[in-house]
Amino acid sequence: MEKEKKGFTPQKIRGKKKNKSPISRTKNAGFTLWFTGLPSSGKSTISDNLAVELKKCGLTIEQLDGDIVRQTICKDLGFSTEDRQKNIERITFIAKLLTRSGVSVLTSFVSPYRIVRKNARKEIGNFIEVYVKCPIKECIRRDPKGNYKKALAGKIPNFTGVSDPYEKPENPEIIVETNKKNVEQCVSQIIKYLKKSGYLN
Ligand SMILES: Nc1ncnc2c1ncn2[C@@H]1O[C@H](COP(=O)(O)OP(=O)(O)OP(=O)(O)O)[C@@H](O)[C@H]1O
Ligand SMILES: [Mg+2]
Repeated sequence: MEKEKKGFTPQKIRGKKKNKSPISRTKNAGFTLWFTGLPSSGKSTISDNLAVELKKCGLTIEQLDGDIVRQTICKDLGFSTEDRQKNIERITFIAKLLTRSGVSVLTSFVSPYRIVRKNARKEIGNFIEVYVKCPIKECIRRDPKGNYKKALAGKIPNFTGVSDPYEKPENPEIIVETNKKNVEQCVSQIIKYLKKSGYLN
């Protein structure tokens, strides 16, 4: 079990040697754009809009979104520190497999803990951390799912930003400030980065 937790590549579990660089596994690897930020900061909205644009560029895209994952492969998990960690570990594993097979993956999870994101970066390789930055006041004002309202009323325990911490990225590749730029501008900013970094022609 411990082995699986620390480095859960199928190769490692089966006892084969682990590749040193995840990027070198395949010449045609994709990338993972890892959106992190407070609830209601705009992760899913930007991911959805960006996916449309990247598909137009001919990329094969898969989206892994918190809401969908929690209704499917992670429906057994809650929001304790341990369960949040497990949630992200599963996502990391899927993103890693897709990325090395040439798929470009857009993940949108609050993913509040730095250590868990650090592990995702290490495992996935072609990893681009996108900090979706928005003041909590504005997130509370938006509240499209009504979750802040419930959390502030004490009806949802361990809610990030209210009763659970959000650890800001220290050195993300991209910061999109969704209270200062609209969705189109945020999408353009990310596309510009992908072009500049050679992920997109
Ligand atoms: N620049 C922007 N980028 C993204 N979303 C924005 C922006 N400006 C306003 N919004 C609005 O903010 C809300 C963000 O909701 P969204 O569900 O995308 O957040 P989220 O980060 O995925 O939240 P959760 O963690 O709860 O899934 C939407 O209503 C969206 O229309
Ligand atoms: Mg979302």
